Amino acid sequence: MGWNPDLYERYRALRERPGRDLMAAIPAIPVRTAIDLGCGTGYLTRQLADRFPEATVTGLDSDPAMLGKAAATPSRIAWQHGDIGSWRPDAPPDLVFSNAALQWLPDHPALFTRLAGHLAPGGVLAVQMPDNFAAPSHLLLRELAAREPWHAMLTGALDHGRVLPPADYWRVLRPHAGSIDIWHTDYVQVLEGEDPVLEWVSATALLPVTARLPAEQADAFRAAYGDALSRAYPPEADGSTLFPFRRIFILARI
Ligand SMILES: C[S@@+](CC[C@H](N)C(=O)[O-])C[C@H]1O[C@@H](n2cnc3c(N)ncnc32)[C@H](O)[C@@H]1O
Repeated sequence: MGWNPDLYERYRALRERPGRDLMAAIPAIPVRTAIDLGCGTGYLTRQLADRFPEATVTGLDSDPAMLGKAAATPSRIAWQHGDIGSWRPDAPPDLVFSNAALQWLPDHPALFTRLAGHLAPGGVLAVQMPDNFAAPSHLLLRELAAREPWHAMLTGALDHGRVLPPADYWRVLRPHAGSIDIWHTDYVQVLEGEDPVLEWVSATALLPVTARLPAEQADAFRAAYGDALSRAYPPEADGSTLFPFRRIFILARI
C-alpha cells in the first residue's frame, strides 16, 4: 500500500491539529528518548524534537515515500524504516507518541499492552487515532467494497485495525499505567474545493482499496465512491464542505 506524501499533506493543517492537541496534553516529564510510531512525513516528529530538546528522537514508518519526505527536511531526528507491529526498542523510551497510525494495525489489546510494556518507568504513551468509522465516509466505502464487481477483489482489504471503545483501552492499559486519560474530540472540519472529501480519503482510507484493484477498476470505484460522497457531504451555501471528524486520544503514564 503506497502512501502519497504530497496528497497526504494537502490537508496538513487539519491533519496536524489533533497531533498538536495530543502533544500539548503530554505532561512535563523528563524525556531522554522519544519515538514517533507511524511518523509519516515527520512534521509532528520535528515538533516533538522541539518540545523535548534534550531527547533523542526517532521517527519510525513503514512507507518509504513518507519517510523519504520526512528525511528530506534537515533535522536531528533519526528516521527508521520499520513496522510498528514488530518494533522493539533497544532501550525503554520515555515517550511513545503515535498520531493517526495505530488504527492501521490489528489486535489493539495486544498492541497497546506491548507498547506500554516497552516504556521506561514514568514514561508516557500518547496516541491519537481517527474514531469515525461510523461516519458516512467509512460506511459508504465498506458498502461499495462489498458490492460486485469489487467484492471478490476486496475481500479482507478493509480488515485492518479496529478502534475499540474507550473503556476497552482503559481496561487494557490499567494493569500497566499509573494514570490514564482518554477522550474524544469532534473536529468540524471545513474543506474547500471540488470533491474535497474524496481527496481527503484518497490519501488515507481509500488506499487499501486502490492498492488491490487493477487501474481501470480503481478508477471506476473512485468515481462511484466520489458520487456517493458528494451526496453525503453536499457543499454549503458558501461552497465549502463540512467533514466532521471524531478522534480518540489516549494518554497513559506508566
Ligand atoms: C495517516 S499517516 C499519519 C502520519 C503522521 N503520524 C501524521 O500524523 O501526519 C499514517 C502513517 O502510518 C504509517 N504506518 C501504517 N502502518 C504502519 C506500520 N505497521 N508500521 C509503520 N508505519 C505504519 C503509514 O506509512 C503512514 O505514514
